[in-house]
Amino acid sequence: MASQEAEQHWQIEDLDFSRIALDKVRPDENLFYLVTSASFIESGSDLYTQNLVDYFKGDDEVTDWLSNHWELEELQHGKALRAYVRHVWPEFEWDTAYQGFLEEYATYCKVELLGPTRALEMTARCVVETGTATYYRAMARSTDEPVLQDLATRIATDEVSHYKHFYRFFRRYREQERLSRFRVFGTIGRRTLELKSEDADCAIRHVVKARSPERATDTAYVQALSARMNSTIRTNLSAATTLKMLMRPLELPAKVQTVIQYPIRQFMQHVFLR
Ligand SMILES: [Fe+2]
Ligand SMILES: [Fe+2]
Repeated sequence: MASQEAEQHWQIEDLDFSRIALDKVRPDENLFYLVTSASFIESGSDLYTQNLVDYFKGDDEVTDWLSNHWELEELQHGKALRAYVRHVWPEFEWDTAYQGFLEEYATYCKVELLGPTRALEMTARCVVETGTATYYRAMARSTDEPVLQDLATRIATDEVSHYKHFYRFFRRYREQERLSRFRVFGTIGRRTLELKSEDADCAIRHVVKARSPERATDTAYVQALSARMNSTIRTNLSAATTLKMLMRPLELPAKVQTVIQYPIRQFMQHVFLR
């Protein structure tokens, strides 16, 4: 089963970088930042995997999947995005900039940042995968460059598959821990607010530092850049799909779901507007 899954997974060689329509992407600075900062965060996935594997020690189904599938796929996302950046913006010194990012990013990945219980950590993982799936779907919609569309769509599909795995593990632990909806809701809310937090800011800052060093300390410039990136994501995301994924761990009856749909949508707008 495991090897079959691995065989079916796409490879970087499946992407045809020679087909990139350079004129559609190269002048787009906003897209450059969206793709490059994502390549940094994905490439740093191995820092995080060991923490998760340690946290779920003893649960072989979870730790095997994390080490043999999840981590490899996240790292592949990083590699593929880096290869794309190198094709379109070859003057950008990816390695140097990434090194700077990594040094700072490593200080965020501490075990104590994981959820207070395994079920709540699985809830948090579902929120994170919802965030990445949303990001790449929006990225694919925001461009008409065919290779980036193809790449972003492949990554988005992987993120949804990660979500499904974490969601299945979540259900198992929620049952074991007899976790209340209230606590699940708290985690969803908190982690949704954190979606656009330290990781993204850290990546953007380091990309700016390498791209336009004179602007690196210009907070207003970095904030404006980040606002423009958020706006691209917000205008291209499918709110209905994102909401459905976010709310799923609550396992609410359909009726209740309709009632709370509106306030949650407002909340989401708020999160992506900031
Ligand atoms: Fe990813
Ligand atoms: Fe993922």
